[in-house]
Amino acid sequence: MVQGQDWQRAAAFIRGRADLLPTIGLVLGSGLGVLAESLGRPTIVPYAEIPGWPQSTVHGHQGNLVIGELEGQIVAAQQGRAHFYEGYTLQQVTFPIRVMKELGVHTLILTNAAGGVNRAYRTGDLMLLEDHINLPGMVGANPLMGPNDDELGERFVGMAQAYDRRLRQRALEVARAHDIPLHSGVYCGLSGPAFETPAEIRMIRTLGGDAVGMSTVHEVLVARHAGMGVMACSGVTNVAIDVVDSDAETNHLEVLEAAKIIVPRLSTILKGVLRDFPT
Ligand code: HPA
Repeated sequence: MVQGQDWQRAAAFIRGRADLLPTIGLVLGSGLGVLAESLGRPTIVPYAEIPGWPQSTVHGHQGNLVIGELEGQIVAAQQGRAHFYEGYTLQQVTFPIRVMKELGVHTLILTNAAGGVNRAYRTGDLMLLEDHINLPGMVGANPLMGPNDDELGERFVGMAQAYDRRLRQRALEVARAHDIPLHSGVYCGLSGPAFETPAEIRMIRTLGGDAVGMSTVHEVLVARHAGMGVMACSGVTNVAIDVVDSDAETNHLEVLEAAKIIVPRLSTILKGVLRDFPT
């Protein structure tokens, strides 16, 4: 089991490498890690060197923590993340979020690649998470299960306002000013690694999901438990297939290709949000 001293050790190791103290955490999902390349005065710490940090085995996840400046903020950016489907426990998957908190991060901005479920969504669109459905959580896979560390946060975490309203408003203003298609919607988190069947996509749509993916919700739970402010944005890398016998099949290459369209859009939004970061 991962314990408090483990993330304290990891944070101490990172502090020994980087002079800058981050207050904003950025998690960059599949194909989106290049965003960290625009950080000024960067210190790059490979995940493999940080004690206890889970390695991402997925193509398109570089596996570095980059600490540097972006639009006047000191940011710790994760180039790639570990997923539940890689065989990690949810405590391991969310270990980096606890380390971020220990480093002094008060606001977490998460990104991910997602399949579009809402019929209005197109490949390359962005979706700001205004809420989520945690399907693994409903069948007993929640990173907050087990003994609660009262020093970190409360046993029962409110999730009615998980995604910070002011940050969302700011992101929508930036998108409008730059003509970027940015939806607001509900992200449905699944464990993966298989993509969904058409029947599952129709079910998720019926349940109120607008996009579907294999990450993020666990990180949001741990961040909210620790009292961090959260913003999250999906890049729609593919439109989820909702009929059987379609000629199409979702694949990871398609996800990485679409990420190339998404990166400049997401970059504009993230920079805009950071530039006028609400104090
Ligand atoms: N389903 C689940 N996860 C994803 C998808 C998808 O269609 N696209 C990118 N990540």
